Formats: sequence, structure tokens, C-alpha cells
Amino acid sequence: MTLDTLKAADAAPLLLDWYDRHHRDLPWRVSPPMAARGAVADPYHVWLSEVMLQQTTVQAVKAYFDKFLRLWPRVEDLAAAETEEVMKAWAGLGYYARARNLKKCAEVVAREHGGRFPDREEGLKSLPGVGDYTAAAIAAIAFNRHSAVLDGNVERVISRLYAIETPLPAAKPEMRRLVSELTPLDRPGDFAQAMMDLGATICAPKRPACALCPFRGNCRALTVADPETFPRKAARKEKPLRLGAAFVAIDRSDAVYLRKRADSGLLGGMTEVPGTDWTARRDGETSIEAGPFAAAWEACGTVTHVFTHFELRLSVYRAEVGDMAACAEGWWEPIASLKAQALPTVMKKAITQAIPHAFKAV
Ligand code: ADE
Repeated sequence: MTLDTLKAADAAPLLLDWYDRHHRDLPWRVSPPMAARGAVADPYHVWLSEVMLQQTTVQAVKAYFDKFLRLWPRVEDLAAAETEEVMKAWAGLGYYARARNLKKCAEVVAREHGGRFPDREEGLKSLPGVGDYTAAAIAAIAFNRHSAVLDGNVERVISRLYAIETPLPAAKPEMRRLVSELTPLDRPGDFAQAMMDLGATICAPKRPACALCPFRGNCRALTVADPETFPRKAARKEKPLRLGAAFVAIDRSDAVYLRKRADSGLLGGMTEVPGTDWTARRDGETSIEAGPFAAAWEACGTVTHVFTHFELRLSVYRAEVGDMAACAEGWWEPIASLKAQALPTVMKKAITQAIPHAFKAV
């Protein structure tokens, strides 16, 4: 079921009029008033923000976006940065393959494209870490191309607007076609951002504010069902549980023993406290023999962390150690400088379990 042609043609003016009045001011965005004063989008800013925003909230991204631009104001600066520094700056945003691809992509743009991002979806898709969604978003927002931009927010808006019964992800091609039909030739970038803002602020997952929606006269879900029940989703499989242990050793000078993870695989190249493998084993407790060295390991509880494909429960052990024999694989990091390390959130949780003040401001 689709809205008729007339309504599709009406959609863009309705939404853009709403966006002109209610857009969010975001650090990477050229808002309508800024555009009226002659500002144009910077493809580097658009790319950086879109990569950061994959799987991460706008609120969480803002500070990281500012930090990256302070450290690396241009794509050439990011290309020239040490990967280790990029990983440190990214720590806490999660999905660390994004950070590695970010650096690779900056290198390709700087070296192979003279520092200029390709200005069409096809060219953008050839860059490391740039998939269908990101290519469409950059093409629309940075280069005003007529691209169908479909993220989670837009999926929700479209699924409600047309009361789409097909569950996600099977409904995606149909949704993309509908977004493409609705996207205007004029201001496609603002249209994409307006759909995302609408999904984030009005057409929210729970308790949508339908009375304030510019599409309230066109929304099929509002007339046939409860909008909150869209998008329909295929029954989700429960995430498997994995177990492991993490060992937080503290020396006399208040330093914590850290090591670097292997470059490939989950959290590749990030920093960690030593630990066991994470396995599906459900039986028994981890033994302190699994510790990285002999010490008076004390159990201090568990932390959990949800990854894309599994949930992890880590038993955390701590030990205060005296003079340490040199440990070949890692290093001792003062607690005061832990914040500057490339520690993923799960490791920050484990360290905080053992040392509650570890990441508090000094
Ligand atoms: N989410 C992802 N990209 C976005 C953008 N450009 N504006 C608002 N929300 C977003």
C-alpha cells in the first residue's frame, strides 16, 4: 500500500517546512539558517559524523566529533595520524572496526583523491568502511545528490507512514524505494536530515508525539493501527552468553597492568586488562590460575557488556602487587592516565569494578 502520487509530492514540502522550524542544531550540520547565510557542508565533517553515528546516539557522538576535529581538522591530518592515537580518541564509541576503517579511509581520500571525497554514491562506496547507508547520506548531505537515505530512524518513519506489514529486515528494499520516491530533487540533503530528526524527536520508538507530526494527515499507521507497533520486526533470537575473567593488577605506585589486544578480531588493536578467552562455557567459576601472573587475586564481582552477537559476563579479579617482575607483553599505566588509553567500554567497566575511582575526574 502506498500513498498516492499527490501525497508523495506533498511530503517533501510538509517535512522541509517542519525542518526549517524544528531542525536540531548539531555540530556537523549546516542548518537552514546557516545555509541561508552561505554556509556549505564540509564533506569531511559529514563523513566523520556519519561514521560515528552508525550504531551510536547523537548525544554520545557530539563530544567525540569535536575532539576529532580539534585533533585532526582536515582529512589529511587524520590520514597522517598514528593509528594508535586514533584508536585512543575513539575509545568508548564502540564498534572499533569503524575506527580502523576511518583511518584507512582518510588515507585513501588524502592520497588517492587529493583530499577530496568522491561526490557520488558509487565513488563513496569504494572507500573503506563506507557502506550503502553512509554513501547515500554523504552524497545527499554533503553534495546534495538525490540519494535515498535509510537509517533506523527513517525506517521507523516510513514503516508508520505506509503501515508496512513486512517485518524488518525483509522490508528494507521496499522502504528504500519509498524513501527514494519521497525524496525531492531540491534539498535532498535537508530532506534526509529532516527524516532522521523526525524519527529521533517526534516519530520516536515509544510514545510518538503524533499530534506534532507534519505527516499526521498522511500517516497510515495513525489511522489503521497503533503507530508504536511499527516497524514490524522478525522475532529476535536471544543473544548467547559468554563468560570470561578480567584481572586488574595494581602496583605500589598506583599503576594498572595493561596489554594490547591482537590487531584483528573483536576490539582488535584496543587496550585491555589481561583476561581469559570469552567462551560459551556455563559451568564453574574461572580459576585464579588463569591470572596473568601469580598474585593474591581477589574476586570483586562481575560486569556484563552486550556486544552485537553475544552478551559477555566477566568475573573481575583484583590484586595489589609489590615489585613486579618485568612482564613482556604489557605495561604499567598510572591510574591517572587510564582515561587517555584506547580502553573499550567493557574494559573500563572491568577496571571500575576493581577500582571504583579509576575514571573519575581528578
Ligand atoms: N543520525 C545519523 N546521521 C544523522 C544526521 N545526519 N542527522 C541527524 N541524525 C543522524
